[in-house]
Amino acid sequence: MRVDEVRLSSFRNYTSERVSFSPRINFVVGKNGEGKTNLLEAIFFLATTKSHRQALEKDMAKIGENHFRVSARIISIGVDRNLDLRYDAVLRKKFAGVSGFPVTKLQDFIGLLNVVMFSPEDLSLVKGSPSGRRRFLDVLLCQVDRVYLRLLQQYTLVLRQRNEALRLIARGSLKLSDLKPWDQQFAFLAHRITMRRLQATERLSASFSTLTDEINRGKETLSVAYTSSLGATNGSLSINSLDVDSVVNELERRQRDCLRRGNSSIGPHRDDLRFLINGLPAEAYASQGQQRTAVLGLKLAELKYMQEVTGDCPVLLLDDVLSELDKSRRQMLVQALKSDVQAIITGTDERDLSLQGVEPSQVMRVERGKVVV
Ligand SMILES: Nc1ncnc2c1ncn2[C@@H]1O[C@H](COP(=O)(O)OP(=O)(O)OP(=O)(O)O)[C@@H](O)[C@H]1O
Ligand SMILES: [Mg+2]
Repeated sequence: MRVDEVRLSSFRNYTSERVSFSPRINFVVGKNGEGKTNLLEAIFFLATTKSHRQALEKDMAKIGENHFRVSARIISIGVDRNLDLRYDAVLRKKFAGVSGFPVTKLQDFIGLLNVVMFSPEDLSLVKGSPSGRRRFLDVLLCQVDRVYLRLLQQYTLVLRQRNEALRLIARGSLKLSDLKPWDQQFAFLAHRITMRRLQATERLSASFSTLTDEINRGKETLSVAYTSSLGATNGSLSINSLDVDSVVNELERRQRDCLRRGNSSIGPHRDDLRFLINGLPAEAYASQGQQRTAVLGLKLAELKYMQEVTGDCPVLLLDDVLSELDKSRRQMLVQALKSDVQAIITGTDERDLSLQGVEPSQVMRVERGKVVV
């Protein structure tokens, strides 16, 4: 898959801009604050309808404007499409279109373009909060699995309603038996989401180990593991032992606790994708270098996973990370870039792209929201 051309209108510091990309390696250079990350954010927004920096839409509209628009021509196996996504701050609504046709449900738009984003913020993935790692899995799975996306949306809704019911029961406004229907729905959705995350982690974990072993050369073993709160009694949950009934039982077992706290203490919203170094939790032990290896390994595993699942390689967006990587980790990236992937790489220094053996096919310069080749 590749992005052929992107058009930005009133997006961040871009007024109206059209940018063409080469099908291979694009390098976007510019000083700090000129608009490099904004450009990648726009592409990520087209893929996921969200900002990778978790920005609000109203903040992505150019200051003084109450709307913005991002469009792109994308080329994927067998089809070329024009993707168009705009935001209206007055109506507080996003509008999507594909090749001139409106898309009424945004969920049908998500994943038409697949991207893997790697930015400096990701370097805190290892030691940061579990929510960041859950978000990693969600961003990945929502792009390639429509069913997952729908399950997650339903789960978010049911979780909110169940929590509300818990609070009403605690206050005496609802009967305890009123919780039952929520528990059934909650368990069904929690189970399906967990299964999908577990399966994805299994596949990610295999390529993650291979990729990171190449750097570590037997010094230590890095791995990723999904820890689910659903089988939390002994913490050992295997794909085979998890079923909806066991989730319902666990919910009942914890009912008193949940009523006291007014929220649901188990479920995919409490899970984690943990990094391990020689089997020990990386959040407690990882050095800076080990964290870099781990995150790079995870991103490259993500790329491979998406390619395997969709049959088409996602677009790799690397925001200012080259300067963060030393020689051996760059080498790891170079291997990935040697395949047929389209990459859009940003940096402040053209010398940053001294990637052994990989030449950019296009270099662009960004200055105050203008892109020149
Ligand atoms: N909504 C907005 N309207 C106008 N300008 C904005 C808006 N949001 C951000 N900017 C401007 O965009 C610029 C930042 O762009 P961006 O984050 O893409 O920089 P960058 O080139 O990636 O810089 P760095 O190298 O520091 O990461 C800043 O000058 C900021 O003021
Ligand atoms: Mg930036």
